[in-house]
Amino acid sequence: MTEHTADLVVLGGGSGGYAAAIRASELGKSVVLIEQDKVGGTCLHRGCIPTKALLHTAEVADHVRDAAKVGVGASFTGIDPAAVTAYREGIVAKKFKGLEGLLKARGITVVTGSGRLLADHGVAVGDDVYRGTDVILATGSYSRSLPGLELGGRVLTSEGALALEVVPDRVVILGGGVIGVEFASVWRSFGAEVTIVEALDHLVPNEDLALSKGLERAFRKRGITAKLGIRFAGVTQSDAGVQVSLEDGSTIDADYLLVAVGRGPATADLGFEDADVTLDRSFVTVDERLQTSAAHVWAVGDIVPGLQLAHRSFQQGIFVAEQIAGLSPVAVAETSIPRVIYSSPEVASVGLTEAQAREKHGDAVATTEFNLAGNGKSEIIGTAGLVKVVRVTDGPIVGVHLLGDRVGELITEGQLAVGWEAHPEDLAPLIHAHPTQSEALGEAFLALAGKPLHAL
Ligand code: NAI
Repeated sequence: MTEHTADLVVLGGGSGGYAAAIRASELGKSVVLIEQDKVGGTCLHRGCIPTKALLHTAEVADHVRDAAKVGVGASFTGIDPAAVTAYREGIVAKKFKGLEGLLKARGITVVTGSGRLLADHGVAVGDDVYRGTDVILATGSYSRSLPGLELGGRVLTSEGALALEVVPDRVVILGGGVIGVEFASVWRSFGAEVTIVEALDHLVPNEDLALSKGLERAFRKRGITAKLGIRFAGVTQSDAGVQVSLEDGSTIDADYLLVAVGRGPATADLGFEDADVTLDRSFVTVDERLQTSAAHVWAVGDIVPGLQLAHRSFQQGIFVAEQIAGLSPVAVAETSIPRVIYSSPEVASVGLTEAQAREKHGDAVATTEFNLAGNGKSEIIGTAGLVKVVRVTDGPIVGVHLLGDRVGELITEGQLAVGWEAHPEDLAPLIHAHPTQSEALGEAFLALAGKPLHAL
């Protein structure tokens, strides 16, 4: 056994882990980063980046189909799965190389291997032990399934769906959350018949009802079927396809079933509990500074209860690194973390939904909705959608909710409004460039400030 020491040992090289490693090394700490696969983790290799590449391919396919509407001669002749894979893998490879270079340039020691937490801030990798003054756990998450639902063959997780080398004719997607909606969007654009089965009454049920309903309308228009408020009963598969049965007795035949019912924290068999790190339903229990129940052992990212988003992991990694280095970083509230679903149309939000705001503030809540039909740029690019802003009466904006193509890029303004607790009256004088989609946000702020322009 060889023992190595460092100021900081990070277990897991995904978004949370590598961000912590980089920030700690910037602050003068010696850092060991342990990763069993490739640095970059789920987001870079199997999540955010490759799926957004697929969604871009889907967008181009839709533009080609619609080209004649804007006076461009083009004809859609199909998707070339091998070329899509090459494009997607090329993007990931470039980002991976960049990240490896960054870690190297920062002097971070990357150890390849599967780590196991030991008591006294150690992590064992094979016969080696890496002992840090502090340890950060950043082991991420995995695709969950349902009891009795076996993954494999034609029953895919998002990883299998990403790696699929064919365009399916028919797919069923279990779960109308973020992953379900993004893959439904991709496959529909690729030409597949898509059915989503969602146990709750709406798609993206965690979002404001206006966005859920608007997305359902847009998907209906795109020919995507959403079976809502229906539970899955079982699936059988053969060489030819799958048959999915639902609790109402109906069945759906398809080529594949994608299971997208959430992601679980990757905390099993890593020695956490033996090292006095308390778990609650497999998530790591942390205090508001992200410290676990074991002193000098911290946790970041998807293993910490809350939104499982890469940018939250980056922020948490930076936060813990700064604390370890003796700074006093400010904890970011979950409600000011922006959320974007990159389907067509996109769904983007920050802060409280109207229902959450009413739960918190009772009747002292005001909302406004601006339909993108009244926004010139949205008309030009051919997207329907809406902007909804939620405020406390005579108080700050507490929620911004957007639906429409390209609106993901607008949520930053919503984030500033919510994060800075801006009042619509403060924002109303700040003009938005014309014609942009951001004007729709401006209109909503004007309406909430009592002076609507292009609305009644
Ligand atoms: P999710 O929690 O967003 O959605 C899962 C959905 O499955 C829920 O709507 C739930 O009601 C439904 N469900 C659960 N059991 C069911 C059943 N028996 N029958 C039918 N429906 C059932 O989880 P998802 O989509 O798997 O995504 C996992 C995580 O990855 C999320 O936390 C998400 O935030 C993150 N992610 C984020 C992306 C982004 O930011 N654009 C992209 C992809 C994933």
